[in-house]
Amino acid sequence: MRSSRTGDIRSSLRRLKHTLAPSGFSPDWSSCVPLCDCRRIWYALGMISIRGMTITDIPLGLRLTRQAGWNQLEADWLRFLSMQPQGCFVGELDGQAVATTVTCTLGPVAWIAMVLVETAARRHGVATALLRHALGFLDGEGVRTIRLDATAAGQPVYERLGFTPEYRLTRYEGIVPEGMAPGGTVEAVQREYREIVAFDQEMTGTPREKMLLRLFEESPQGVRIFRRGGRLEGYVSLRKGANATQIGPCIATSPAGEVLLCDALSLCTGLRVFIDIPCDNAPAVGLAGRCGLQTQRQFTRMCRGEPVHDQPASIYASSGPEKG
Ligand SMILES: CC(C)(COP(=O)(O)OP(=O)(O)OC[C@H]1O[C@@H](n2cnc3c(N)ncnc32)[C@H](O)[C@@H]1OP(=O)(O)O)[C@@H](O)C(=O)NCCC(=O)NCCS
Repeated sequence: MRSSRTGDIRSSLRRLKHTLAPSGFSPDWSSCVPLCDCRRIWYALGMISIRGMTITDIPLGLRLTRQAGWNQLEADWLRFLSMQPQGCFVGELDGQAVATTVTCTLGPVAWIAMVLVETAARRHGVATALLRHALGFLDGEGVRTIRLDATAAGQPVYERLGFTPEYRLTRYEGIVPEGMAPGGTVEAVQREYREIVAFDQEMTGTPREKMLLRLFEESPQGVRIFRRGGRLEGYVSLRKGANATQIGPCIATSPAGEVLLCDALSLCTGLRVFIDIPCDNAPAVGLAGRCGLQTQRQFTRMCRGEPVHDQPASIYASSGPEKG
């Protein structure tokens, strides 16, 4: 039970917020932290608090992903928790769990993902507080670069925290029509996974083994590769989602990327798919158009810290906004 004194202070703060809002003065309360250390008061009052996420929070994560219309399944939350158990967080507002975020450190680069706030709890500074907490955690880990894929709603929150835009991606969505001719890729076998991971690192500049091996082991039938003269030229991975099959990552040289994407699409004939393609990858964008896929929304890939020089031209499909 909170004391009535605490309750009084809390309702006074609420009244203050409501009084200030109509006057047009709408501060970002969490950015007041360095100025007046109000975070301590804020947190002590229990209005916003951050705690570690555990397996018992997966129903919360799934509820928030459904509410936002996102594609993740329980397997995705389990993967996040197993990749970085200390780096997944829940935000609480007035003692109620209302928000999530996860981090994933891949060598010197970390990704932040799954920033979701319950609709009714938005615009109270919960995402900002969660992000600050996650950034503090990652700074403690010594990462040099933090990246994320921002929705239009998230981008201003991230910009205020020092993230800058790198490039844009479009999510394409649709039901794959008949007639996508398969073009010579083969299903990868487990002993080839390490070679794929090494290829991926060469192309993306990030050691993504921790994430890729899990993805491949979860959906082995969905991992396909393309070789020319025995040399690996690219791979694609598919996985199930709540709303559609996600095609990606697909990392490849040109023109192997088009062959891989075509094959992945032909495997999904009649199914709804999502593919996240960097806007600058013209061949992949063209293929999505020829296949009749529609733009669902756009993301902005953002970075804080040292930039990573990956090449959108070799990213035929991103892993999804939560994985880069
Ligand atoms: C994007 C999202 C995470 C933001 O969460 P949030 O908790 O509302 O974010 P914050 O409250 O920290 O900041 C949002 C806005 O509220 C304002 N705000 C923060 N605290 C406030 C307060 N106490 N009173 C009034 N406004 C406040 C912020 O200044 C910010 O203003 P802006 O509209 O100018 O950007 C949330 O809208 C969401 O879950 N959207 C759907 C999923 C999604 O797109 N996630 C982002 C993935 S990249």
